[in-house]
Amino acid sequence: MTPLLQVKSIAKAFGGNHVLQNVNIDVHAGEIVGLLGPNGSGKSTLLNTITGFEAPDSGQIIYERQRIESLTAHNIVKTGIARTFQLPSMPQKMTTIEVAMAAATGHHGFWATLLNTPAARSAEQQAREKADALLNELQLTPVRNLSSAALSGGQKKLLGIVCALMADPKILMLDEPTAGVHPNLKRDIVSALQRLNTRGMTLVVVEHDMHFIRELCHRCVVLDRGHIVANCRPEELATNEQVLDAYLGNARPVNRTNTTGMQKIQVLAS
Ligand SMILES: Nc1ncnc2c1ncn2[C@@H]1O[C@H](COP(=O)(O)OP(=O)(O)OP(=O)(O)O)[C@@H](O)[C@H]1O
Ligand SMILES: [Mg+2]
Repeated sequence: MTPLLQVKSIAKAFGGNHVLQNVNIDVHAGEIVGLLGPNGSGKSTLLNTITGFEAPDSGQIIYERQRIESLTAHNIVKTGIARTFQLPSMPQKMTTIEVAMAAATGHHGFWATLLNTPAARSAEQQAREKADALLNELQLTPVRNLSSAALSGGQKKLLGIVCALMADPKILMLDEPTAGVHPNLKRDIVSALQRLNTRGMTLVVVEHDMHFIRELCHRCVVLDRGHIVANCRPEELATNEQVLDAYLGNARPVNRTNTTGMQKIQVLAS
């Protein structure tokens, strides 16, 4: 079966810093793929190149059989790939619900909005209902009318997920969705993402929390210094030589039979 998304030989450098080198990843429809790697290994940069926030220096990105590596971020969202940000920033003067509604992709044009036409009113009502349902699902209803800038770090992460979902993506890419989020809410995020996946959404998740990864992901791709070093099931991570090298390097214990690799990866990754 043709993958939904193909990343082919992507390279990206900033000056002399070769952040991504010959990166190849296939993502199939319906998968939940974890993207792991030590700090600075290139995970966010890879998400940025796929979603149009950085242009790759070379290579191809193919989504639904179309080349997308030259499209703008705005047009990539329209094709069906949405993403969240590792460090979301929120507009000072908009409330939570307004930020969510602004992320709706359906619009009826400037003049329709200005003239307050029935079509524009109906689109606004639909966006409001959709935003309210998503805010409820991500437990943000209590802060619906607060300035979005006043939200906590974890709540901003959740609002980022709501905004991405407003675009009805086929693929949702999440950059550390649970960093700074309370453990109880992490479980709720896992459940919410699993529900989205059951409804057909494909997910790519950058995450350091190994428990979260084991709960959620079908497959994991591991980056180390810009190279893919592993592509395996979550339960294989702790015994994968390349993954242990990437995370532990020289700190690897000599007696490997006693290695509690997953715990050590977790300690170093968090
Ligand atoms: N716009 C940029 N300009 C210059 N260097 C950049 C830029 N974006 C990323 N880098 C560099 O690319 C490297 C990889 O960064 P990236 O943010 O992709 O890592 P990461 O794997 O997401 O790390 P973390 O787990 O800490 O979020 C780092 O050395 C970073 O400084
Ligand atoms: Mg990052």
